[in-house]
Amino acid sequence: MKKLGLAITLYFWLVNGIAFAQTQNANPLSMKQLINEQFQFAAAQYKLLDKNIPQGLTPQSFDAKTGKSMNKDIQWWCSGFYAGSLWYIFEQTNDLMIKQQAENALKVIASNQTYTGNHDLGFMMYCSFGNAYRLTNNPEYKNIINRSAESLFSRYRPSIKAIQSWNKNKYWECPVIVDNMMNLEMLNWVSDNGGDPKYKKTSIIHANTTLANHFRPDFSSYHVVDYDLNTGKVIKKATWQGAANSSAWARGQAWALYGYTMMYRFTKDAIYLKQANGIAKFILNHPNLPSDKIPYWDFDAPFMPEAKRDASAGAIMASALLELAQYAQKADKITYKTAAETIINSLSSDKYRAKQGENGGFLLMHSTGAYPLNSEIDVPLIYADYYFLEALMRYKNWYL
Ligand code: GLY
Repeated sequence: MKKLGLAITLYFWLVNGIAFAQTQNANPLSMKQLINEQFQFAAAQYKLLDKNIPQGLTPQSFDAKTGKSMNKDIQWWCSGFYAGSLWYIFEQTNDLMIKQQAENALKVIASNQTYTGNHDLGFMMYCSFGNAYRLTNNPEYKNIINRSAESLFSRYRPSIKAIQSWNKNKYWECPVIVDNMMNLEMLNWVSDNGGDPKYKKTSIIHANTTLANHFRPDFSSYHVVDYDLNTGKVIKKATWQGAANSSAWARGQAWALYGYTMMYRFTKDAIYLKQANGIAKFILNHPNLPSDKIPYWDFDAPFMPEAKRDASAGAIMASALLELAQYAQKADKITYKTAAETIINSLSSDKYRAKQGENGGFLLMHSTGAYPLNSEIDVPLIYADYYFLEALMRYKNWYL
């Protein structure tokens, strides 16, 4: 009996010893230096980017062949990422010119607070005004976030127990896309910060419906689930931006990973942690995930290894894995943090990160927006930059 006790004690010493050694693997000094360099670079690049934005539009991408900047109107789902990125850069650099740019970028999109034409209010208004409020405590920003939550809430459909993503059109009756998990962050935050509890309750209902209908047994997810508003039943499970209805569109898997990790942060409901862990394992153990851990645009993309990558999916995954590592069991903690480090190092390398003065002022190259629509293939994208900066910031705050 004594021998068994000794063996168990030795086993735990050994396991803990290995775990400790593994956490020491990354060189904190070089990660600190690398992260600081990325933020200095970002400040310089975003001053250049700012010069390319016509009045009233928001930056989206850049065409290296024509040298043309691609900008979008403020109701495009990405309109808040520029302001959000600027706030992250300001937070790390204290550069007052960047702060001025961030304040200006908020003014451009402020009227979105009453927009109800799609589900993207969380992306547009929380990534931007959420970060602005976090750093300034300006009550005007909080009012705008609260108003935006009400606009998003207007798209909740009780018959399907979910928030409708896009309006009815010739393809869909009542589509809900997995990306919509990301918009729940704003709803949770508003309820937890003095707002109506109905927003958080709605986010939980939506997350549970998505969990029931979007996922396959291996924790990969469909992009779109289309519902019948009258009966509440699922009409079909399909894709819009993926390679096939049955495929694992890379950014969709990243949104799901981030979304359920974030739901666990706000609710501490173990079902969300289990889901996030399952998604993380699907991604990290996938035979088609390249060794630099920047996924192809779809885990089932044709023409691998020539298929295009999606740096944006990699950036979202890195940020999500760093948060999931905070909640995970010891062995998983190390796996997730190490994977996030690999992604950060890959994205910071010449292979993905632009040279100063190039890339239209964007930070990262090689993202893919919507391959099947022949749109935004192998280009810089504003949200790749945003989640890259967020991952850098999370790494610095939590591990250095
Ligand atoms: N619909 C958001 C995305 O393209 O990921």
